[in-house]
Amino acid sequence: MNLADLNKVALAMVTPGKGILAADESSGTIKKRFDAIKVESTEDSRRDYREMLFRSSDAMSKYISGVILYDETIWQDAKDGTPLIKLIEASGAIPGIKVDEGTQALPNCPGELVTVGLDKLADRLKKYHERGARFAKWRAVIDIAGGAGGRDIPSMTAIRVNAHALARYAALCQAAQIVPIVEPEVLMDGNHDIDRCYEVTSRVLNKTFQELRVQRVALEGMILKPNMAIAGKKSGKQASVDEVAEKTIRLLKACVPAAVPGIAFLSGGQSDEAATAHLNAMNRTSGLPWRLTFSYGRALQAAPQKAWSGKPENLAAGQRAFTHRARMNALASKGEWETGLEKKAA
Ligand code: 13P
Repeated sequence: MNLADLNKVALAMVTPGKGILAADESSGTIKKRFDAIKVESTEDSRRDYREMLFRSSDAMSKYISGVILYDETIWQDAKDGTPLIKLIEASGAIPGIKVDEGTQALPNCPGELVTVGLDKLADRLKKYHERGARFAKWRAVIDIAGGAGGRDIPSMTAIRVNAHALARYAALCQAAQIVPIVEPEVLMDGNHDIDRCYEVTSRVLNKTFQELRVQRVALEGMILKPNMAIAGKKSGKQASVDEVAEKTIRLLKACVPAAVPGIAFLSGGQSDEAATAHLNAMNRTSGLPWRLTFSYGRALQAAPQKAWSGKPENLAAGQRAFTHRARMNALASKGEWETGLEKKAA
């Protein structure tokens, strides 16, 4: 492992004024997104859609530091035969790859999940590196709300096995000279308040960093992708932007070592504007030990998906919508976003 190079890539992923586009939806997830805009999900429609994003040259070159791809996409060519990964490289963004293989039911823990994909991961990482991927992503899912039969979840079992797998993945990535994005996501589903999310996320982050240490992962060569401290979607007690920012910063300061170069948040089902406003408020705080930016999927793509709606004549509108969201979040990564900017569509 060359840690200096891993650290250089990690820092580039969290360049101030830039963030990560999570375009790594699995075939099942992208089908759900396309269903919502009444587009059939085929190899070609997925290619056309992602090509539209990667050819948004203003957004890609100015606001996007890296793109997380799904396995299909990293091997796929644009319509003119150029590999899609080359479009990303040409824009100056770093290509990355989702390497987990989704979740399975966790035995003995009803309603809870464990992320799988460690078997043969070392071989897969080698191939992805040869193809050009310089970072990877693995997402663990911790549900607060879905306990079967009134059980209290998450169980310590779910937290531990997922932390263990995240650390196994991270160590394998670094051995393959790939920067791991470590993503332990505490879901927003449910009616819990922000303090419950804070408490569970703190347990999850503490266990994750404990495992990373046990497995000798170099913190300088990774990026953390956490959820924010935020109330559940069905909670009647939604926290203000300032409260989300203040509690998320407090939580991260308590749990995330300063050796980690950067934190790139997931959006997790927040509205586009809320995801931007929260990131912005956090970046108005001075003296933080890590860079804070976005690694959004839905909060960057919902608008372009709607504007495009699968119609070739809407390509420019789709790119405009993507560029606008990318710019808003890029400003938020520097604490320079204001709600008034939303009205002036890009
Ligand atoms: P969302 O921003 O839609 O939560 O997606 C980010 C991601 O990569 C989840 O793994």
